[in-house]
Amino acid sequence: MAKRRIGILTSGGDCPGLNATIRGVAKACYNFIGEDKVEIIGISDGFHGLIHNECKEMKPSDFSGILTQGGTILGTRRTPYKMMQIIEDDNIDKVAEMKQTYKNRKLDCLLTLGGNGTHKTANLLSEEGLNVIGLPKTIDNDIWGTSVTFGFHTAVDIGTEVVDRIHTTANSHSRVMVIEIMGNKAGWLTLYTGVAGGADIILIPEIPYDIDKVAKAVESRAKAGKSFSILAVAEGCMDIEESKMKKKDRMRIRNENGYNTATVRIAKDIERITGYETRTVVPGHMLRGGSPSAYDRVLATKFGARAAELIVEEKYGYTVAKIGTEIGENKLSDVTMKTKFVPLDDKVVKAARDIGISFGD
Ligand code: F6P
Repeated sequence: MAKRRIGILTSGGDCPGLNATIRGVAKACYNFIGEDKVEIIGISDGFHGLIHNECKEMKPSDFSGILTQGGTILGTRRTPYKMMQIIEDDNIDKVAEMKQTYKNRKLDCLLTLGGNGTHKTANLLSEEGLNVIGLPKTIDNDIWGTSVTFGFHTAVDIGTEVVDRIHTTANSHSRVMVIEIMGNKAGWLTLYTGVAGGADIILIPEIPYDIDKVAKAVESRAKAGKSFSILAVAEGCMDIEESKMKKKDRMRIRNENGYNTATVRIAKDIERITGYETRTVVPGHMLRGGSPSAYDRVLATKFGARAAELIVEEKYGYTVAKIGTEIGENKLSDVTMKTKFVPLDDKVVKAARDIGISFGD
């Protein structure tokens, strides 16, 4: 019998847990199907490798010793979904080339590890007739239909350590510290990092802020004898006026005023209104680096093993998900083109409000 040929790629921004998931899929496939009956083809740099036929046959030993490794052994790249069906100057029909590579490499299925953009392209390829299975990766935790994505909790741990460290220096200098946290358009990472790190004010895109209320929260702390304040600010957060604008208008106005991020403006405004010395901190890509946490290693292993079961069942057109307490899957077509935002009645938001954390609203 011909070997089952499984293509695997990682696409979009990296995060801790990609290698742990790749390992989980591979080891479970070898176990379920038999090492001699399965061939895993690693595709380099995400969809770029699929378009350009940059692939290599992997050995079982390639999947050993990578559980704890950050990044991705396959490499990754951003190949935006919106450009997938557009022929650019290089005259390459990307969708046709991806289908050709799949055919030439005699793949039985393709596993795509990625975030929202990756899921859109995965769904497109599935609609084009390829056997695709998705796996939900992102520090942003914003994929529809799964309560958690791998990479998120490690980023929360790293963010929390940043906030912890900022606490001591903020205290020594009696400063207001504004910490910008990644997360794209969703506030999950900032919310969890802020609560875990004991931030005093948390600003997320889902809850537009009023700068006067933010400043008031800082002043109330000062009146209560607290000489410093910590703000966890999502990179995508907006004030109430901005939240009513289209993104391009928001960005234009910010640029005209000399701020490309909300963080810098928030810090300047707090300093102007309250008179307190303020600093900004941007941990940026550090939130995505290094070894996955224990939680993410376990989640990645469970997700990977479930993907292998889907391969055995030949259940394609799905993406693995955590649904309630179980690991299951959702149809790619159901999750694509959606974003999982923090609901206003989220229990963590409520707990934060209950203990007096301000959301600036
Ligand atoms: O989607 C993950 C993420 O880290 C976002 O939180 C952030 O906005 C973006 O990627 C940064 O992208 P890049 O690595 O391309 O700078």
